[in-house]
Amino acid sequence: MSLYGKSFLKLLDFSKEEIDEYLSLASRLKEKKKRGIPHEIAKGKNIALVFEKTSTRTRCAFEVAAADLGMRAVYLDPKSSQIGKKESLADSAKVLGRMFDAIEYRGFAQEIVEDIARYSGVPTFNGLTNEFHPTQILADFLTIKEKFGKTEGITLCYYGDARYNMGNSLMIGAAKEGMHFVACCPEKYRPNQALVREAERIAKASGGSVRFSTDPEKGSVGADVVYTDVWVSMGEEESVWKERIQDLLPYRVTKKVMENAKESAIFMHCLPAFHDLGTEVGRAIYEKFGIREMEVSDEVFNGPRSVVFDEAENRLHTIKAVIAASLVKEIE
Ligand code: CP
Ligand code: NVA
Repeated sequence: MSLYGKSFLKLLDFSKEEIDEYLSLASRLKEKKKRGIPHEIAKGKNIALVFEKTSTRTRCAFEVAAADLGMRAVYLDPKSSQIGKKESLADSAKVLGRMFDAIEYRGFAQEIVEDIARYSGVPTFNGLTNEFHPTQILADFLTIKEKFGKTEGITLCYYGDARYNMGNSLMIGAAKEGMHFVACCPEKYRPNQALVREAERIAKASGGSVRFSTDPEKGSVGADVVYTDVWVSMGEEESVWKERIQDLLPYRVTKKVMENAKESAIFMHCLPAFHDLGTEVGRAIYEKFGIREMEVSDEVFNGPRSVVFDEAENRLHTIKAVIAASLVKEIE
């Protein structure tokens, strides 16, 4: 089996064996990095990083990974390229495909990143769309493997808005890996029916399961991993905050939620997180709605069960694995 030449657009495109191959390569590359062993195995290759939304982790992970692999990365920010404004996406993708060995894209509809892959003719990596955030899931699963020694049979309970990129991707990834996925949220925040049916079908074959709970007290019972994400995602209208807070406040990950989970349970979050008043948005929400913490309490975020910064570090190693697997034919 080879991941050589492959785009990385969504987890639905990969088998469990292929996902595990990315994770195993990421572990090996992490070990090399820790030991200071050079691994410039993609020397001379070039990658374009196209960001239509802001980023800290994903951009830095792609840039550092590319440098560690001996590559050059060119960053195109949300404003200064012609893509989609003065030049059609198809034309821009064809141009990038003539100059670069690979393209990373972060933006809006999943369709866009799929089109870039099609028109550019070079491996294309999804750095987040509205629907999916697959490189994040590789980092999360590497972290879970490091903490529990496996992904199979692990129960992951997701609190909050499960309809967006993180809920969707975790559900599909968990189903592929034979994990038990639980979304704890009001009914209207569940992933769409078609995707749920697909996840159930995959889980049936892998020995995993997909469940839903509307009870924040019971959702995390038996969970190994409690996961949450922001209540309002990038690109959404400001006006949705009021309703989101009303709907999702009972689903904040608190000490109680963690106490209801297994004693060994860990807390995960893709970040950035609103857990205190240390952000502009957090302060604005406090002024308007009087809440100091949103999807997770500061106590849990900074508590002993939180592995959020291990997760963030693993973005680098897993993204490096995605690039290397696609651009390097044989890796030791
Ligand atoms: N988790 C994540 O994708 O972070 P950034 O938005 O900072 O890239
Ligand atoms: N759901 C979040 C994820 C950020 C990494 C967003 O799309 O903004």
